[in-house]
Amino acid sequence: MAVLEIRKYPDPVLRRKSRPVAGITPEIQKLIDDMIETMYAAPGVGLAAPQVGIPLRLAVIDVSTKEENIPLLVLVNPEIISTEGEQSEEEGCLSVSDFQSVVTRFAKVRVRATDRDGKLCEVSGEGLLARAFQHEIDHLDGVLFIDRISPLKRGLFKRRVRKNLKEDKAAI
Ligand code: NI
Repeated sequence: MAVLEIRKYPDPVLRRKSRPVAGITPEIQKLIDDMIETMYAAPGVGLAAPQVGIPLRLAVIDVSTKEENIPLLVLVNPEIISTEGEQSEEEGCLSVSDFQSVVTRFAKVRVRATDRDGKLCEVSGEGLLARAFQHEIDHLDGVLFIDRISPLKRGLFKRRVRKNLKEDKAAI
């Protein structure tokens, strides 16, 4: 297993629409293992393949805490099949450094995906798990949480990115 480099905004790979995974090959199994290790090392509660530079429809999620033991989920070609209600919580992303903002999402979602053994499964989530499902599936469509915040907040973020890029350039 290996910790992979996490691509950061504005890397163009984060904006691509990912291709479906055609089959669970040894290469895909290795990618899944590496993504799990990368997610835990970050640390994060979810990671999508485009975030490690691979535009495939694959994500890993682990929202378990000391209080609540929720199993690690490997989602191959996931899709949301039903939604319910609404929640607004602060959200961030491993690919978007030093920025969080409130994002309104569905409160509950049901997802259909293939697991790492190639078995079709359905899983429901609410709260943080529902948020993680929607955030990671967005990644597979080239969508970032900053696309789902108010124009005012997005303007703030973009100004900060431009400023940081300038500072980086000045440091070289
Ligand atoms: Ni993210």
